[in-house]
Amino acid sequence: MEGVTAPSFRDLVLARNPPEALGGAYTEFVRVVDHPVPKKVFLEHLGPRRFVAPVGVQLMGRDPRALMASAVHAVELGVPLVDLNFGCPAKGALKGCAGAGALRDPCGMEEVVRSVVRAVAGAVPVTAKIRAGYDHARDVEVLARAVEAGGADLLTVHCRTRAEGYQPEVDWTRIARAVAAVSIPVCGNGSVETHADLERMRRETGAEYAMVGRGAIADPWVFSGQHVTADVAAGFLLEYYDYLVACAGEPKSPVQRVKQLLRYWTAGGVVRDEDDRLVWLREPDPLAVIARLRALAAAPGA
Ligand SMILES: Cc1cc2nc3c(=O)[nH]c(=O)nc-3n(C[C@H](O)[C@H](O)[C@H](O)COP(=O)(O)O)c2cc1C
Repeated sequence: MEGVTAPSFRDLVLARNPPEALGGAYTEFVRVVDHPVPKKVFLEHLGPRRFVAPVGVQLMGRDPRALMASAVHAVELGVPLVDLNFGCPAKGALKGCAGAGALRDPCGMEEVVRSVVRAVAGAVPVTAKIRAGYDHARDVEVLARAVEAGGADLLTVHCRTRAEGYQPEVDWTRIARAVAAVSIPVCGNGSVETHADLERMRRETGAEYAMVGRGAIADPWVFSGQHVTADVAAGFLLEYYDYLVACAGEPKSPVQRVKQLLRYWTAGGVVRDEDDRLVWLREPDPLAVIARLRALAAAPGA
């Protein structure tokens, strides 16, 4: 997730959930403006580790030529999936008609998908992620069909509209409508918070797959449904911290990154309640945050 997680977070999640529980992941979006993205940028997003479950590269842009050349670079690096982001509601993306901005022009979106599918030429599947609409969800079928007509192999539907941002209320029937409108597989997304929600989303919407966003930041074991103890959960956060310390060039400090997870974290009771969350987040001394995590990790089964 852009701005929140470093590639090593995704690696740690993949390492803790077997492929039958977690079928794959994508990088955060890689912004494509008017030039092809250099291969070294993709390598930074992908990180050093590889897994049985595929990790695709997600591209966000509107310039078909730059997207095509970027997708080819990604494929040449051995990336197993290329995803297109038509869901980001950030102002910068909308101004350039990228991300969710593309939802205002289904024909243009279809053309972008078609261009990238053509560029990749069957070497890897091309997938696309939309929101249910820009200002309203009345045309989710039109958007889903545009992605399918462009030749995508899979469609992810985040059930909120651009206007709805990340509001807590969701309407999964919009995902079911997209499923009914297309014959490619659909991945549902939006407010999957627990392991049980994963199955419920698939059952209620008919979507073949379910994607988890913030729920995976709150509990990296959400895919397998394992309930971990505080020492195991703290161990995850410390391993992430150690990765980040070892990784030069990270824009945020390692403890800032850990605190970004603690804003959402529910696993293992590391964050006892919302008051305790504030204690974690307001701790000014980075070493105190790590010391508290180390104390939790050192008490097995706590
Ligand atoms: C901080 C943040 C960063 C995100 N970055 C991305 C991204 O890079 N690519 C993407 O497709 N979605 C991104 N998303 C959206 C999530 O993938 C997901 O669609 C959304 O949060 C809804 O799912 P959820 O309710 O399970 O969190 C981001 C969301 C948040 C809150």
